[in-house]
Amino acid sequence: MSKPKILVARAIFPETLERLSAHFEVEANQADTLFTPDELKARLADKQGVFTTGSERIDAGLLAACPALKICANMAVGFNNFDVEAMTARGVLGTNAPDVLTETTADFGFALLMATARRVTESEHYLRRGEWTRWSYDMFAGTEVHGSTLGIIGMGRIGQGIARRGAFGFGMDVIYHNRSRLSPELEADCKARYVGKEELLRSADHVVLVVPYSAASHHTIGAPELGLMKPTATLINIARGGIVDDAALAVALRERRIAAAGLDVFEGEPKVHPDLLTVPNVVLTPHIASATLKTRLAMANLAADNLIGYLVHGKPLTPLNPAVLAA
Ligand code: DGY
Repeated sequence: MSKPKILVARAIFPETLERLSAHFEVEANQADTLFTPDELKARLADKQGVFTTGSERIDAGLLAACPALKICANMAVGFNNFDVEAMTARGVLGTNAPDVLTETTADFGFALLMATARRVTESEHYLRRGEWTRWSYDMFAGTEVHGSTLGIIGMGRIGQGIARRGAFGFGMDVIYHNRSRLSPELEADCKARYVGKEELLRSADHVVLVVPYSAASHHTIGAPELGLMKPTATLINIARGGIVDDAALAVALRERRIAAAGLDVFEGEPKVHPDLLTVPNVVLTPHIASATLKTRLAMANLAADNLIGYLVHGKPLTPLNPAVLAA
């Protein structure tokens, strides 16, 4: 019997490719070419499955051109590159890669918070430029992290991981806002208190965004929200580009309406709003919150397990649209 055909759309761990090759006829892309939408469509025309990484858009137009496609397995917990509604309408399963990256991403959220509040990269650049000639009492004075108020918008698994780090590691008073309130048990586990978004923005010393991207969460933080924040506050975005209005943020940073920001994700990335590149009080990283080799391998293997689970055994591990399975 011939093996199902799949495309692995980006370069990936050789061991993951090897696992996939045991079950599928694999078209790999170890040169890591970024396919245009038309190239992706052409490559998927005869494939039953695709391994995506978040940079490949799966929408109604592509699905119409790829009638053999049964599953799109994303190597990311976020799946805003998928039009899940269109996939469900076409009977195509989508899967993501949750859980395996939770603690690693929460670690990074905290690293970015620390670097931003304590001005780590800004002061390093100053030192590298050879400008450090003497000590002064207020040189790169930052904002307290321990004992301060941590506000988390988006209290899924990663948000909860950040809350626990803040509450138990740094004695922070943790407040959160989320579409739905956590159970009393989970709130106690995270030592976090539910508040409205406006109250959170007004009272947090550090605001961390971990909300999934959707049309509803587009520009969750724009000029009006930045205007509610304390002038001493920091803003951290490890969620998705588009959750923050980057142009409005650059203005707020330049005018010191908030103290600083730490951004791992950007509107239209890998492009970065040029004004963000010229303000000193922002820490910028290239979407690396889940980037440890151990975690990235676990994410890749989970995407592979979803392809194998569905196309070989009929049982995916982390389906996004289980209605497709019931049909
Ligand atoms: C995710 O998993 O959604 C990350 O943003 C990708 O690294």
